[in-house]
Amino acid sequence: MKFLHISDIHFNPKDDGLATRDLREKFSKYVQEKNITDIDEVFFTGDFRHALKQIDQPEDEVAQNAVDFLRYIASCVGVTDDQNIHIVPGNHDLSREVNTDTNNKILKTIYKNYDRDDGRFSGYARKNESSLNYLRNRFGFFEKCTMLLKNQIWEGFKKEPIHRIVPSSNSSAYSILYLNTAIASGYDKFKHKLLIGTDDFEKALKQTSRDLVIVLAHNRLSHLISDEQDIIKNIIKDNKTPVLWLCGDAHKAQYDNSYNITCITAGCMIQQNGTEASFNVGQFTKYTGLVIDAQGESIFDLLDLEKCSEEKKKLIDEYRD
Ligand SMILES: [Fe+2]
Repeated sequence: MKFLHISDIHFNPKDDGLATRDLREKFSKYVQEKNITDIDEVFFTGDFRHALKQIDQPEDEVAQNAVDFLRYIASCVGVTDDQNIHIVPGNHDLSREVNTDTNNKILKTIYKNYDRDDGRFSGYARKNESSLNYLRNRFGFFEKCTMLLKNQIWEGFKKEPIHRIVPSSNSSAYSILYLNTAIASGYDKFKHKLLIGTDDFEKALKQTSRDLVIVLAHNRLSHLISDEQDIIKNIIKDNKTPVLWLCGDAHKAQYDNSYNITCITAGCMIQQNGTEASFNVGQFTKYTGLVIDAQGESIFDLLDLEKCSEEKKKLIDEYRD
């Protein structure tokens, strides 16, 4: 199974700047030049829109544009069936209370009520609305994307578990665990101290065998509150499963192998100050294991032959060698 992992497309055709449009146009040329055109599965790890910048745009249209762009990226690498497009939500794929104080107040209550022993969002966020329902009800935009893709993994978003799993089969020999690490995001004080609901995580992981588990998540493991990180590390350790954790959010390529959990962060598909456009291509077979290639922004840059300096042209030659 050959996969493409890409994150944080933040697709906003009405407002994307020149550099971002340019980057997106180069993607197709780049993957063709590198022969990345025989991909089986595409993993998008959240942030399909820019929630604040697109707040005045009709949500249906934003979702349709984002999904069309996901399909376009997938088609560039040879994936034409929505079934092979895998998504998890990011913090831009949910709606927050417009008023920051109200938002923080509600989330403060939710964080306070979280049952750490049970790993569940318990209690009430506000009158007549449980914490979990409040959190789930915020994902209207993400649900629209799942419906447009006819995505079955996230069916029953508001009632079924927070995290989803497709266990391995004899032929696949890998499971995919779809995490919603954005479930309780949006609380200013706890930006990278997230709670995700370890109970549902454990229930999902238990359904896997000892084959490889590919975790798709918007956030890296270290963005969880420390207790929650420890619990997850222990669940993974007890389950004795090799885990590949693919994520985004940082808008930069990162790699971390702490605690024997391989965590790879893809960059983003926007070009702004300090961002890094990058993605990963991997291949997994039962017999040969896993191989991953990181593809970076510098390479996109190098493709711009006409604008290249002599120094860059030299680099191109070296790179092509
Ligand atoms: Fe993002």
